Amino acid sequence: MDLENTIQERASVSAEPKKVFVRTYGCQMNVYDSQRMSDALAAEGYVASDTAEDADLVLLNTCHIRAKAAEKVYSELGRLRKLKDERAAAGKEMLIGVAGCVAQAEGGEIIRRAGAVDLVIGPQTYHRLPDAIRRVRGGEKVVETDYAVEDKFDHLPAAKPSVVRGRGVTAFLTVQEGCDKFCTFCVVPYTRGSETSRPVAQIAAEAENLARAGVRELTLLGQNVNAWHGEGPDGSEWGLGRLLFRLAEIPGIERLRYTTSHPRDMDDELIAAHRDLDRLMPYLHLPVQAGSDRILKAMNRRHTVDDYRRLVDRIRSARPDIAMSGDFIVGFPGETEADFAETLKIVRDIGYAQAFSFKYSPRPGTPGAELDDQVPEPVKDRRLQELQALLTSQQKAFAAGLVGSGMAVLLEKEGRHEGQLVGRSPWLQPVIVEDAAGRIGDIIRVRVTHANANSLSAEAA
Ligand code: SAH
Ligand code: SF4
Ligand code: F3S
Repeated sequence: MDLENTIQERASVSAEPKKVFVRTYGCQMNVYDSQRMSDALAAEGYVASDTAEDADLVLLNTCHIRAKAAEKVYSELGRLRKLKDERAAAGKEMLIGVAGCVAQAEGGEIIRRAGAVDLVIGPQTYHRLPDAIRRVRGGEKVVETDYAVEDKFDHLPAAKPSVVRGRGVTAFLTVQEGCDKFCTFCVVPYTRGSETSRPVAQIAAEAENLARAGVRELTLLGQNVNAWHGEGPDGSEWGLGRLLFRLAEIPGIERLRYTTSHPRDMDDELIAAHRDLDRLMPYLHLPVQAGSDRILKAMNRRHTVDDYRRLVDRIRSARPDIAMSGDFIVGFPGETEADFAETLKIVRDIGYAQAFSFKYSPRPGTPGAELDDQVPEPVKDRRLQELQALLTSQQKAFAAGLVGSGMAVLLEKEGRHEGQLVGRSPWLQPVIVEDAAGRIGDIIRVRVTHANANSLSAEAA
């Protein structure tokens, strides 16, 4: 009798699905990867949890781009160690895994620094995650950071319509990963490895699955997305422009975007796609980083400020309503006041609808960190403030310039108030639509009534 009860109890315990909590830091590619990891774990019977508190497995998908991003991970691991101890005291398990770019950069060092960590797994080996977790369950500490020979995308569950349905009308799709450019400030070539491009057939199949699940807008991702050069169905090599034309044919895919681009890889075909493809949204994230040729050279960007200007001119003549977005670094080693003034100048000349700006953060293992004449922190602070003030004023002016005009908005979700729906403008701004005559997933015409700090208000047109 007793034994039977125990068996029944065990059966009901193991019937309870295990819960996984994934926390994502960093860029959109990590968001995409977290989704793929969750899908792979769902196939193993894990269900997603919204909090770490009741999770059997916590995965941190980490970012190494700046010192702050990497430090966040260790403070989170400190908090998780306490949770893990509390759960252990209650007879429950909590496994802790570190994925992403800190995992790749620091490997087993993470377990030495944070002993509560059970698993370290780099971005190139996510398809081995279920197996790694089985090994952890068996009592091993697992570090998986070797570059796999097999293609992880062949082994990760593709975004099946049944899996992705209900996740929304916009989706990311990684087409390219890694970087061969080696800008002297950047860790990405070390954390994501060398450039790889997924073949057209694989990308198209995933895009079709997403479309069938209700996705209307696809954002193609890559650390250097416009360096994508994948194998076409006929065995020839395609560029990103051609890929965009192909994806625009998929029924249901109404809008296309891609990010992040490098100025050196904007070829004629891609610029032609901006001219000829209505579904390609008129918004381009094209980082220049700095406005002085001397600094660009020290950064190993391999283009001049003038190259960038001419490129933007060509893109704008192909697609006059295109809005530019960018990334900027202030305080790269050796940056003088005169160099910084040139950054302000290129910003004024180009005019950005949106931008991200950062203080230079010396990263271990990158050439920039070894350079003399690092810029003092207070100087970086002041330059960043000045640059951000300029960028914010441009962003506001861009939004204000849209008031009174009409535009197409893809409705994404319900708003905070009754009757409101929230969508995106072609230029990626959130748009709050009052009394929208449409459903989520529809693209409707609206008229902009007001520009708010980080969104637009509009009424159905
Ligand atoms: N692949 C993209 C950028 C990826 S990282 C590109 O080439 O543009 C995103 C942004 O972070 C970079 O554009 C850069 O502006 C910033 N960044 C990268 N390394 C940095 C560092 N060490 N310190 C400060 N900002 C950095
Ligand atoms: Fe980093 Fe430069 Fe590569 Fe962009 S192009 S990921 S900034 S090394
Ligand atoms: Fe960060 Fe890695 Fe993305 S370092 S920005 S998560 S590629």
